[in-house]
Amino acid sequence: MNSILIIDDEPSIRTILAEILEDEGYSVHLAGDGFEGLHILKTTKVELVLLDIWLPRMGGIDVLKEIKNEFSEIEVIVISGHANVDLAVNAIKIGAFDFLEKPLDMDRVINLTRNALKLEELKQENKNLKSQLMLEDRMIGTTEEMDKVNQIIEQSASSDSRVMITGENGTGKELVARKIHLKSNRKNKPFIEVNCAAIPDNLIESELFGHEKGAFTGASAIRKGKFEAADGGTLFLDEVADMSLSAQAKVLRAVQEMQFERVGGEKSIHVDVRILTATNKNIPEEIEKGNFREDLFFRLNVIPIQLPSLKERVEDLPELISYFMEKFKKEGTERKTISKGGMKILFKYSWPGNIRELKNFLERINIMCDEQIISEESVTTYLGEKINSNENPGLNEYKNLKLNEAKDKFERELLVYYLKENGYNISKTAQVLGIYPSNLHSKIKKFDIVIKK
Ligand SMILES: Nc1ncnc2c1ncn2[C@@H]1O[C@H](COP(=O)(O)OP(=O)(O)OP(=O)(O)O)[C@@H](O)[C@H]1O
Ligand SMILES: [Mg+2]
Repeated sequence: MNSILIIDDEPSIRTILAEILEDEGYSVHLAGDGFEGLHILKTTKVELVLLDIWLPRMGGIDVLKEIKNEFSEIEVIVISGHANVDLAVNAIKIGAFDFLEKPLDMDRVINLTRNALKLEELKQENKNLKSQLMLEDRMIGTTEEMDKVNQIIEQSASSDSRVMITGENGTGKELVARKIHLKSNRKNKPFIEVNCAAIPDNLIESELFGHEKGAFTGASAIRKGKFEAADGGTLFLDEVADMSLSAQAKVLRAVQEMQFERVGGEKSIHVDVRILTATNKNIPEEIEKGNFREDLFFRLNVIPIQLPSLKERVEDLPELISYFMEKFKKEGTERKTISKGGMKILFKYSWPGNIRELKNFLERINIMCDEQIISEESVTTYLGEKINSNENPGLNEYKNLKLNEAKDKFERELLVYYLKENGYNISKTAQVLGIYPSNLHSKIKKFDIVIKK
């Protein structure tokens, strides 16, 4: 039931409004002047105030200001006599929802009341959604590593400097990028994310910079790119190391000059965009291999943030677990916990998928497992495949690589090992490996192996 406060010095008006509104199903409180009214607001939950503008002692406008200051979420409808409509208009400027003129038209009283309460409800909903989002955006972790990360976030957020976030899969790179944006002066402007790995090479330029009509087959209309969409705000280039070299060249110019042309266009477009990037690749290595432009790296990596893996900050596990358990608990139920034995396993586990893996594991266990305190057995079961696949620890090094990359990495390691074993004697090593010396020579060149004599 919505609750309404009527502040009016005329008893007859108080009575008649109270009757109508109670008939409509609202609970009504009454006050004869502003002081009394404000006192009621301090002690009672009220969603709407009907406020006479012409009051003894403290004038209606002052009461309104006080309400908007102290209880900003409460809506106020002002009641004015014909003689002081000016005051009522002024009241709306200060934040009143609308005004009623005396003599009161009862239909209008009811309609305005409904509308004002509707607005109040929407505002409340909005507020709840926002706080939920905030909850989703929390960054958990109190270890030294995370303190450092949080410190850099705080320091860099308000400047426009470019930040490059690195870290393994699922360590929270995107979360950090969003956090930086939310803490920056650009927080009310767009946050636009581009996953560079997910866009085919031939489309990435048009995705980033847009295209003119007819720029290529299929470009049937002008399209704005992400740089334009992010104007005034933040552009987050995720998986930035996966961008083609030609796209990198264009990005470099856009970053340097804050201007670019749409694909197939000649007009220069100026924007004001803050650039954040993330990658799980080792960019210096990519530069070495010729896959990433060094000049672009220096432009983007003004402030580096390196996220620790979960294994490196395993002390944060308990806090992370209660945070996610709280999130995943069914409505009205108590939050599940993990037994001591279960925790021991989780502490020992390697967490190759980091926080994302932890989150998925906990979600699974919340749905699948009936126990309130999750036993050691259940933890083993639901972590199951993961633990087993970890029995081949040698595999860990190759896990995040493409087959070709893994093969190359393995081949290089094997060659280095046998070369060393055989005192860097080429023909002997070739024999052990079962290949021709010429073949070994070319591999040594390919893999850039240093021969120590
Ligand atoms: N410190 C943290 N506290 C709470 N939740 C976190 C934290 N770090 C990451 N998460 C959550 O873990 C999940 C993975 O994080 P995110 O997507 O930011 O990782 P990522 O590094 O971008 O991963 P990928 O490399 O796979 O893109 C998200 O659901 C995120 O909200
Ligand atoms: Mg990510």
